[in-house]
Amino acid sequence: MTTSLIETERSLVTKVAKGLLKCLDTRDAHEFTRCHIQNSVNIHYSKLQHLWFQLPAKQVPLVVVEDGIHGIDENEQGTCGSQLKDRGWLVEKSIIANESLWNWCRENGFLEEGTSKQVLFSPSPHLAAVIDKIETAFAPKKTARVLDIGCGSGRDLAWLCFRSKFQWMVSALDAEKRAINRFTDFFEQLNLESRVEDACVAKVDQNGLWTLYTREGKRVTDQEGLTTASFLSSNFRFNESEKFDLILQIRFLNRALLKDTAEMLNKNGFLFLCTFTDDGKTVYEYPKTQDHRLQKGEIKKLVAKLDGLELVCDDIGYIEDGRPVEVVLIQKTN
Ligand SMILES: C[S@@+](CC[C@H](N)C(=O)[O-])C[C@H]1O[C@@H](n2cnc3c(N)ncnc32)[C@H](O)[C@@H]1O
Repeated sequence: MTTSLIETERSLVTKVAKGLLKCLDTRDAHEFTRCHIQNSVNIHYSKLQHLWFQLPAKQVPLVVVEDGIHGIDENEQGTCGSQLKDRGWLVEKSIIANESLWNWCRENGFLEEGTSKQVLFSPSPHLAAVIDKIETAFAPKKTARVLDIGCGSGRDLAWLCFRSKFQWMVSALDAEKRAINRFTDFFEQLNLESRVEDACVAKVDQNGLWTLYTREGKRVTDQEGLTTASFLSSNFRFNESEKFDLILQIRFLNRALLKDTAEMLNKNGFLFLCTFTDDGKTVYEYPKTQDHRLQKGEIKKLVAKLDGLELVCDDIGYIEDGRPVEVVLIQKTN
């Protein structure tokens, strides 16, 4: 069979099919379902503007399969691949979907049908680095409950749900209704609804007290100024005998909440905290104040004051743009 696929395209498609390179396919869902490169992920060009969080980090190489006509923003020049490049993504190549591509993929066993079975986004690399340690601590149990405070779109929760050897049941919390609505859509799109136990729009204040909001963003008047325990027991599957095995606070800091950590966790459960810090070297603008930046030695002092908690690790890491974060793992010991 003749093909007009150039050598570079063949090599990139092979890498995608082998799971060595990420591939975004921006065509219509029905065309993607009919045929696509194995391991590629479908996000329609018209939805990309609302789904940046589902893309890989900007420095991760990416191939885009597209129809060669449509862009992300019709007021801009170019198609999806070039518009993503203009926005800073590392697009190795745009490949136009055509019969030559599918024939070549078919001949080489790289053709797949159906919906996306992969995701493009990556979790917090710092969470990924400690997750085996966390799951191993729960052995022989193979299922556990996680609560993400300040979950955003739920990227880390979704990633946990894709762990193959361990089943995570998730609960999500964020002060922004947009975040929780996005989380809900995201989990629906990934067919992960059965993994969600609870999701709430709620805000914790500087004293560690909670206020619940509706999904439309209205304050719920009988759910204001609640302690963590009473807020969780009214709105989550949470009681004396059913607590969380893992609490995530990623790029979110509320010092007052730390004192409630032991109360929220099952025995041997963990708090994973990864938040901006002053490392004494890096100068950065946002977040501006110490309210959102841990200070050197602060976590050690805070944990030392809390009963039943042990600091398992406390390291400095860096996020994609070079800002320093403190990566902290705390375990409940009794
Ligand atoms: C920088 S984002 C991080 C999101 C997510 N954890 C991640 O790493 O992608 C911080 C999140 O915390 C939420 N947040 C900020 N203050 C909050 C508060 N007081 N109570 C609950 N959520 C809050 C924000 O709405 C936002 O979604």
